[in-house]
Amino acid sequence: MSPVDSKTDSKPDSKLDSALRPGFEGVVFTETRISHVDGLAGRLTLAGYAVEELAPKATFEEATLLLWTGRRPSPAELESFRAELAARRVLPAMTLECLRQAAVQRLPAMDVLRLAADSLALQPVRPAAEWPDFEPRAFDLLAQMPLVVAAYHHLLAGHEPLSLPSGDWGIAASLLYLISGEIPSPARVRALETYLVTVCDHGTNASTLAARVIVSTRSDLLSAVVGAIGALKGPLHGGAPGPALEMVFDIGQAERAEPYLRAKLAAGERLMGFGHRVYKVHDPRAAVLAAAAEQLFAADADRELYALARHVEATAIRLLDEFKPGRHLRTNVEFYTALLLHGLGLPTELFTPLFAVARTAGWIAHCREQQLEGRLLRPAARYVGPFDQRWEVKDLAA
Ligand code: ACO
Repeated sequence: MSPVDSKTDSKPDSKLDSALRPGFEGVVFTETRISHVDGLAGRLTLAGYAVEELAPKATFEEATLLLWTGRRPSPAELESFRAELAARRVLPAMTLECLRQAAVQRLPAMDVLRLAADSLALQPVRPAAEWPDFEPRAFDLLAQMPLVVAAYHHLLAGHEPLSLPSGDWGIAASLLYLISGEIPSPARVRALETYLVTVCDHGTNASTLAARVIVSTRSDLLSAVVGAIGALKGPLHGGAPGPALEMVFDIGQAERAEPYLRAKLAAGERLMGFGHRVYKVHDPRAAVLAAAAEQLFAADADRELYALARHVEATAIRLLDEFKPGRHLRTNVEFYTALLLHGLGLPTELFTPLFAVARTAGWIAHCREQQLEGRLLRPAARYVGPFDQRWEVKDLAA
């Protein structure tokens, strides 16, 4: 075959040219019942419920079933769902081995979560008797990703992973126990439930889109979630809460906030935890998590840190308005995620993996929806390279 690319259209497609949308902004590619993000009004609706209504009240399991089935689960459905998850709450031996190897090499937690999610394929597929319509790997992922996060945390510190005492453990409570080794108070469990529900889904964000693209090729759910984890770990998506908290710690005292933030903005740096591609008035999740953090810090966490974070937030918003007039950059979900998870005693390196645990519920819901739709996702790009180049074949004998 000739090394010349055989397909050399002579002209760009003018119809595609006029539809160019960098970053897919404004592109609507599907219909969904899972969530609605109204960036102009600052509203997030999760399967019919405003995030402010759902997140402080529902458990993570309830919210997951809401996303997966489109309706609030009955008590019997919830019980059978929790039982299904409990039955799968054990890591395959090879996954644990993979975590041990990763700990030796001190790999970053998100890379390990991606590796471990893939390794769940090493266990046999066990259908769920009471949920015949569901892909069994959905239950494995939801039950075992929290175990991966907690186990890696301990292995990295040179300890063996903890096991749960007997009892009826939900995902939020088991996460807190498996990380800290302490039975969590109801207030702490509620705070983590609120976090997990707040971030369990968010329209067709980058990681969800990645998952939908993967299953649209009729690939499998594990591949989709592995791809989504890869997308989530980037600092412009799920990687910001750690840096947001570091910024508050770096500032340390209220009077340092203004010079510190001003210097960053003057140097052209971005303030982590501020700004959003879609929300142009405010990120409603930030308000839900701010309220949860306020309650938690009032009860049993460091109130001074909370007061400092509020001061940093107010100063950052004022300075963002000064440096980026007209952009209306406001606090995003990551800023209060950082504060809430820190208040729960969770280490910074677990923030993005915990985000992934929560978002797994949404990824799976979107994968189901995409599979039902059955349409391959395949956007186009405007080609800006040359056409009709010649590939001269040199005479090697000459
Ligand atoms: N700090 C300073 N300036 C900012 C910030 C910020 N946090 N966010 C946006 N800007 C500025 C940009 O520099 C740009 O300025 P310019 O036009 O003068 O060059 C302008 O605002 C628009 O920026 P874009 O990158 O075009 O905005 P976009 O909507 O694509 O960005 C994003 C959204 C990526 C979240 C951005 O606001 C950002 O980088 N924030 C910091 C990182 C962060 O908090 N990420 C978590 C997002 S929430 C989530 O994914 C769960």
